[in-house]
Amino acid sequence: MPVFDASRLAGKTVIVTGASAGIGAATAVLFAKGGSNVILVARRKDVIDAVAQQCAAAHKESGLSQGGKFATVQLDVSDKTSVASLWDKIPQDLKDVDVLVNNAGYVLGVEHVGTIKDEDIEGMFATNVLGLISVTQLLVRHFKEKKAGHIINLGSIAGREPYAGGSIYTATKHAVHAFTASMMRELVNTPIRVTEIQPGMVETEFSIVRFRGDTSAAKKVYEGLQPLVAEDIAEEIVWAAARPPHVNIAEVLVFPVNQASATINYRGPKA
Ligand SMILES: NC(=O)c1ccc[n+]([C@@H]2O[C@H](COP(=O)([O-])OP(=O)(O)OC[C@H]3O[C@@H](n4cnc5c(N)ncnc54)[C@H](OP(=O)(O)O)[C@@H]3O)[C@@H](O)[C@H]2O)c1
Repeated sequence: MPVFDASRLAGKTVIVTGASAGIGAATAVLFAKGGSNVILVARRKDVIDAVAQQCAAAHKESGLSQGGKFATVQLDVSDKTSVASLWDKIPQDLKDVDVLVNNAGYVLGVEHVGTIKDEDIEGMFATNVLGLISVTQLLVRHFKEKKAGHIINLGSIAGREPYAGGSIYTATKHAVHAFTASMMRELVNTPIRVTEIQPGMVETEFSIVRFRGDTSAAKKVYEGLQPLVAEDIAEEIVWAAARPPHVNIAEVLVFPVNQASATINYRGPKA
């Protein structure tokens, strides 16, 4: 008997944005393992196709008869026109979506205000905020018609706590928090659930993207402590989705054991 009941996921259909790497890829695979169908969305088509194959393998290994359908949609969430075409790109037999995981997002650089490139500011807002909102607008209409659904947004500790060198990223994640909390209030008279997952330090491609491909700068972020891995956050997402329909996990803040805030962490000898 498993510790928690994930049987409610079996046969459900889940969209995961940013499913080509890190948290999104791990989430897609874990939903597949739980017997869900998954629509994987990201810009790198060959990479989401490879993750979809991992989903198929995980589903096969689970031995579950429900689920096992996987589709990939190449999409840039920051491109409004392409988001508008998302619905048409979802195969007919996967259109009855139950869960949306708004995970696509990134941070670029650690520059201070005054020296941040316009294109970096615009890119982060267009993806983390406007992209998340566009995809949500599309799916919330479907969930309202269906009278069921779950929107799970990837916030961050950066959405609760600003820090120097993260002005734009923290502003985007504060916006995600405000948007998510407002939407939860708007949907309070519906069966639609709204969750915000707020990770601390997770070692994925995130810091490699932040440091523009400099893998040694990215490694330094996690030096001396054990960061979370993508699967740790995927477990929280899937756990929230698997709660009974009357339970809404509103927010989950997840740190590695040696992190206590956006900037407070411990890398010394263990006490
Ligand atoms: N890692 C952390 O420490 C951490 C902490 C707190 C919150 N988060 C949040 O968790 C989420 C996932 O991050 P991660 O750590 O898993 O990072 P990651 O490994 O870099 O993965 C990011 C994913 O987002 C996708 N993506 C980026 N821009 C996109 C766009 N315009 N359209 C579609 N997909 C896009 C990427 O795919 P393509 O490049 O193929 O498009 C990739 O699949 C992000 O929202 C991030 O802000 C991460």
